Amino acid sequence: MEARLIAVVLFVCSVCHFTEAQLPAPTALNTTITRTTCGSSKLCVSTPGNCDPSGNSSCFFSSTQLSSTVLTVEISGSTSGYVALGLIATTNLTQPLNQGVSAVFVCGNNNNSFFFQTATQNGAQLTPVNTSTINITSIQGSVMANQSLVQCTFNITFNSTFTQLPFNVTILNGTTNGTALGNLTTIFSSGPLDLANPKSNIPVLNITRDGCGSSKLCFSNASGCNPAGNSSCFFSSVQTKSQNFSFELSGTKAGYVALGLMKQNSTVVFICGNDTTGGNFFFQTAIKNGTSLTLTNVTTVYNNQGVVSKNQTLIQCIFNTTTTLNFSTKADDTKYQVTIMSGTTNGTQLGDPAVLYDSKTAIDLSDPTALNPSSSNAVSLCTNVLAVMLSALTLRLL
Ligand SMILES: *[C@@H]1O[C@H](CO)[C@@H](O)[C@H](O)[C@H]1NC(C)=O
Ligand SMILES: *[C@@H]1O[C@H](CO)[C@@H](O)[C@H](O)[C@H]1NC(C)=O
Ligand SMILES: *[C@@H]1O[C@H](CO)[C@@H](O)[C@H](O)[C@H]1NC(C)=O
Ligand SMILES: *[C@@H]1O[C@H](CO)[C@@H](O)[C@H](O)[C@H]1NC(C)=O
Ligand SMILES: *[C@@H]1O[C@H](CO)[C@@H](O)[C@H](O)[C@H]1NC(C)=O
Ligand SMILES: *[C@@H]1O[C@H](CO)[C@@H](O)[C@H](O)[C@H]1NC(C)=O
Ligand SMILES: *[C@@H]1O[C@H](CO)[C@@H](O)[C@H](O)[C@H]1NC(C)=O
Ligand SMILES: *[C@@H]1O[C@H](CO)[C@@H](O)[C@H](O)[C@H]1NC(C)=O
Ligand SMILES: *[C@@H]1O[C@H](CO)[C@@H](O)[C@H](O)[C@H]1NC(C)=O
Ligand SMILES: *[C@@H]1O[C@H](CO)[C@@H](O)[C@H](O)[C@H]1NC(C)=O
Ligand SMILES: *[C@@H]1O[C@H](CO)[C@@H](O)[C@H](O)[C@H]1NC(C)=O
Ligand SMILES: *[C@@H]1O[C@H](CO)[C@@H](O)[C@H](O)[C@H]1NC(C)=O
Repeated sequence: MEARLIAVVLFVCSVCHFTEAQLPAPTALNTTITRTTCGSSKLCVSTPGNCDPSGNSSCFFSSTQLSSTVLTVEISGSTSGYVALGLIATTNLTQPLNQGVSAVFVCGNNNNSFFFQTATQNGAQLTPVNTSTINITSIQGSVMANQSLVQCTFNITFNSTFTQLPFNVTILNGTTNGTALGNLTTIFSSGPLDLANPKSNIPVLNITRDGCGSSKLCFSNASGCNPAGNSSCFFSSVQTKSQNFSFELSGTKAGYVALGLMKQNSTVVFICGNDTTGGNFFFQTAIKNGTSLTLTNVTTVYNNQGVVSKNQTLIQCIFNTTTTLNFSTKADDTKYQVTIMSGTTNGTQLGDPAVLYDSKTAIDLSDPTALNPSSSNAVSLCTNVLAVMLSALTLRLL
């Protein structure tokens, strides 16, 4: 009996050795994978966005960091099965990294022990392959938290040095049965991303006053507010093209900055916030009911991007919507009362908004000149000018 067991063990080990000849044996991961240095020294992707791989809630995460010829990869997933990183080269770097070449790196749970595999993706299936052309070294991995978390890290050594590594990136997951991989689900997909650039997936928004009053309609709580400058102010702009609004929003306040569009007593609110759990951007839409916000899915919003920058003091975002918002009746009805608001965040929970700017009347968002001094809205501007003059006068009197 004992002899038979030994024979089986020997057999299994020789099989392992044979099929994984190209891969070094994994060692236990002796650190935990975290978001620390994401965006500064490593490129991070995750689902949900900005989730914490060392936290308690579900998180699928991967990072890459290039140092000379070595790419260090981290993968983490809240799974009892496997989590995998899929990479597809989007340009010809050099052999074996030609355009379209794809590789999947799988970190999995084999009955409470860690295993690593390289694979190719065929539809919903992962086929283990020997990627002998990719030099993978120092694989570390662990199955943790009562088989609910798999984490691993490894190095890929290139023969040439690269300054850019543009790849399409996916995160995949699935079940395991031993080391057999169940069908995959793609839970994250983006690209091309430059694996060598930690900021590759952090947008550069470049929100400026350029074009205010001529090509875009601008709103702000302080005259001359320059969203690209260092002043502490709130700014928003809109450009209308073929029944689509393109909005910019910028504000300097901890928490969130929001744009409200009101029609018939209903205010749709677009929120660009700072998730205080990680200091990262999030986007949400809501309806303003009285003084508070009720999260609502505004289905006409698409393509939002944002960033919390300047040492965490500035929140900026851009987003598009069709001109037909939830409540508007006609696609060409572009008149809304505009407010800029801000409030606090706790995680992604929103405090009540304070109104910082209010257009008071409905403004035609499709007219970049709608608030120019010469236009029909001059009255409100004159009032502002008068107020400024009055306060100046008051100051002089003092
Ligand atoms: C972690 O593992 C690496 C590589 O195996 C080793 O060099 C290092 O000393 C280990 N660190 C600790 C704290 O065990
Ligand atoms: C990478 O992704 C982009 C956007 O999804 C896609 O257009 C492109 O074809 C992909 N490239 C490759 C090589 O798969
Ligand atoms: C990339 O390399 C492959 C194989 O060498 C070649 O067939 C392909 O045309 C190249 N693509 C580009 C965009 O250079
Ligand atoms: C896995 O995917 C294959 C082909 O994509 C499909 O035929 C098969 O039914 C799937 N298996 C499961 C368990 O969903
Ligand atoms: C790197 O170079 C060595 C020796 O020249 C060669 O054996 C190996 O296949 C090359 N590796 C890659 C990934 O191109
Ligand atoms: C992986 O590569 C990084 C960067 O070159 C290096 O610091 C680290 O020591 C390597 N890991 C191991 C275990 O060799
Ligand atoms: C793989 O990379 C290691 C350094 O990380 C290097 O020593 C070794 O020669 C490389 N092997 C091949 C086949 O390129
Ligand atoms: C894959 O990830 C999704 C969440 O994105 C989760 O609901 C699902 O249970 C995961 N599946 C496995 C096998 O880990
Ligand atoms: C796991 O694999 C074993 C043997 O390969 C098979 O007998 C068993 O039915 C599989 N279990 C599941 C849940 O698919
Ligand atoms: C920002 O946009 C302005 C035009 O609005 C352009 O002149 C400038 O070059 C852009 N700057 C960057 C860094 O993209
Ligand atoms: C964002 O949240 C972080 C905490 O994670 C905080 O340090 C930072 O000041 C906040 N910034 C803004 C603009 O809300
Ligand atoms: C908007 O609200 C005001 C006061 O709450 C009310 O007098 C007015 O009729 C409402 N208008 C519409 C279009 O619902």
